[in-house]
Amino acid sequence: MDKKSRLVLRNYYETYTARAFLDFLIPQKTINDMHNQRAKFSIPKGTTYLNCAYMSPLLKSVEKAGKSGIERKRNPFQISANDFFSGSEPLRSEFGKLINVKDPKRIVIIPSVSYGLATVVKNAHLNSGDKIIVAAEQFPSNYYPWQRLTLDTKSTLTAIAPPDQMESRGKVWNERILEAIDSKTKIVSLGHVHWADGTRFDLESIRKRTREVGALLVIDGTQSVGALPFDVQKFQPDALICGGYKWLMGPYSIGLAYYGEYFNNGLPIEENWINRQDSENFSSLVIYQSNYQPGALRYEVGEHSNFILVPMMLEALKQINQWKPENIQQYCKKISQPTIKKLRAVGYWIEEDDHRGQHLFGVRFPKGTSIEDVKERVKKKKISVSFRGDSMRVAPNVYNDARDFERLLEALI
Ligand SMILES: Cc1ncc(COP(=O)(O)O)c(C=O)c1O
Repeated sequence: MDKKSRLVLRNYYETYTARAFLDFLIPQKTINDMHNQRAKFSIPKGTTYLNCAYMSPLLKSVEKAGKSGIERKRNPFQISANDFFSGSEPLRSEFGKLINVKDPKRIVIIPSVSYGLATVVKNAHLNSGDKIIVAAEQFPSNYYPWQRLTLDTKSTLTAIAPPDQMESRGKVWNERILEAIDSKTKIVSLGHVHWADGTRFDLESIRKRTREVGALLVIDGTQSVGALPFDVQKFQPDALICGGYKWLMGPYSIGLAYYGEYFNNGLPIEENWINRQDSENFSSLVIYQSNYQPGALRYEVGEHSNFILVPMMLEALKQINQWKPENIQQYCKKISQPTIKKLRAVGYWIEEDDHRGQHLFGVRFPKGTSIEDVKERVKKKKISVSFRGDSMRVAPNVYNDARDFERLLEALI
C-alpha cells in the first residue's frame, strides 16, 4: 500500500467509522485478538485517556441505560414491586460470570469499597495480640478500616513494604508478604495489583499460606477485576470487594462484593427491610422476620435496587464479559510494550512485566527529571494520567491504541 492510501485509510479509521464497522463484522464473542473499542465510548477527539485507574469513561450503552433509568421514574407506575428485585439478580449473575461464582446470592451490591470492607470488619472478631497484614501504601479505603479495628481490639496492623531495590522488586515484595504471615495473623487484605505501581500480588501463594495459619484473605479488586482475570475458584478469597467505576466501567457509587462461607451467619452493618426473608411480599413487610435473605444477601446496601445505577452497571458488565479480561490484558500489553521498552532504555523504571498487570503501571523518572515539567508536557498534549507520590500512573484500556502511547513517549523524552 502506498503512503497516500495509508494516510487515507488512517484518516478513515480515525473517524471511527471503520472501527464501528469492524465491531459489526466481528461478533464480540469470537474476539480473542481484541481491536480498538473507542467507537463504543464518547471520548473527545484529540485527547489521550490513559487513566482508567482514576475512573473509566462511560460506554455509550451504559449511558443509554442510565438515561432510561432516569426516565423510568418520570412515571412511578412503571416501577413495580417486582422491579425492586428483578434488576439486581441479573447484575449479581453477570458479576458472578466475571469472577467465576455460580451462586449469585454470594454476590452483593455495595455503594463503595469502604462499605464492603466495613462488613468484613464487623464480622472479623479479633483479639488482642492478633495481627492484620496489608501491603504498604494501599489505598486508604483498604487501610483505615483495619487501623480502626486494630485500635479497637488492641491487635496489630503490619504494612509490608516493597524492597528498595528496583530489580526483582515485585518478586521480593511477594516473598516478604509470605514471610510475614504467621500463626498470629488473622487477616491478610490487599489488592490483586498495587493501585499505584501495578505490582501484582501472588494470590495463589498468599491464599495457601493464609490457609496454613487460618487467616482470612480479603481482596480489594477495584484496580484489577474487569481488566485482569480473577477466578474465585482459583484464589478462594473470603471476601472480594470491587468499586464499580474503574475497570468494571460502571457509574460512580455502585460496586460489587463477593462474600464466602465464613460470612454465612454474620451480621450486616445495617438492618435493611429488603435483606430480610420474604421482603418480596410487600403486603406483609411488617410481619417482621428474624431471618435474612439467603447466601450473602444480608450484606447488601439499603436501596440497592437503584433503578439508575443497577441497569448501568449491568450493561457495563455484559460488555466486559463479552470482551473478557484476558483479552483486555493482551490488548493493553500489545499497545504499551514498544513504549515501555523505549522508556526503560532511557532510564525510566516500570515494574517487571512478570510481576505486574498489563493494564496499570507506575512510571518512575530518571534522576534529575522535574515532575512539574512532565506534568506540564503531558497536559499540553492533552494526555490524562495520574501522578501518585513520586511516580506517574498509566492505565490504558480497550479505547486506547499504540498511538496514544507514542504520544505519551513524545511527552516524556
Ligand atoms: C484500590 C482502590 N480501592 C478502593 C478505591 C475507592 O474506594 P471507595 O469506594 O471506598 O471510595 C480506590 C479508588 O481509587 C482504589 O484505587
